[in-house]
Amino acid sequence: MLSVIPEVAERLIIALILTNIMVGKGIKEYFNLPEEYFSHRGPTVDLIEELEEKWFLNNIKINRQDVVLDFACGLGRWTKKLSPRVRKVYSIDISPKPLSSLKKQKLENIKIIIGSDEKLIHFKEYFDKIIFAQGLEFYSSPITLLKKLRYSLKQGGELFISTWTPVLIKDIRGLKLEKDYVIVPRLIDNKKIEVFCKLRTKNEVKNLLQKTGYKKVQVEFLSIDAKSLPMKVKKLFTKKPSGRLNVLVIAKAIK
Ligand SMILES: C[S@@+](CC[C@H](N)C(=O)[O-])C[C@H]1O[C@@H](n2cnc3c(N)ncnc32)[C@H](O)[C@@H]1O
Repeated sequence: MLSVIPEVAERLIIALILTNIMVGKGIKEYFNLPEEYFSHRGPTVDLIEELEEKWFLNNIKINRQDVVLDFACGLGRWTKKLSPRVRKVYSIDISPKPLSSLKKQKLENIKIIIGSDEKLIHFKEYFDKIIFAQGLEFYSSPITLLKKLRYSLKQGGELFISTWTPVLIKDIRGLKLEKDYVIVPRLIDNKKIEVFCKLRTKNEVKNLLQKTGYKKVQVEFLSIDAKSLPMKVKKLFTKKPSGRLNVLVIAKAIK
């Protein structure tokens, strides 16, 4: 009887935390825009995705038996990449629109869940790996979420995170970066959307992960030489970029 008390207390604490989910301003509006909008996102996104995919794939040891969580999965970029190589992928996102597009792919071994952190309570020590790609920036205080992700990882399980730095946003024509907001033109009617977006340094990401209690934390910048930027990306800058550009913070944390 006594042995169940810590488990009940743990669940109760998590349930209390879960009642406090906040979704940043503009996020639901932006990510529920029609799919066509995202197919015109521009070459900076392609560039970032390419760099991130290379790093993740070099650093993940994928096993056939793995159960993976793709948290804030969006259109399911990682779900689609990993599902043929693992046992099952759970794909969670707050925005129904990208999820409905993922659903149309009819992948057999995926489970799509609309929601957010609150869903993690059902997955105690469940996942071998968690991918949280380009989603941290939409959380103002991500400690609670990072704790919940840790709760749902198996012992020894691995969390992979990527998050944008300001470099490929601040000098890009058409975008405006204000404190913790990116202001983007909505292509359909050219109205502006203010999207909450908190860009973090390498140390901030490292501190967040260490504070959350991950055993081993590795955080790096992914960078690119400005000279080697594709011409189509260079053309988007208002000022000529130079030197080495740290475009993404990337992290691997082990429970
Ligand atoms: C830039 S997209 C990244 C999508 C995908 N992970 C990728 O890298 O291709 C960010 C995603 O985070 C989701 N998101 C933002 N805040 C969220 C929250 N509180 N809970 C769940 N998903 C969230 C958005 O709906 C959006 O689909």
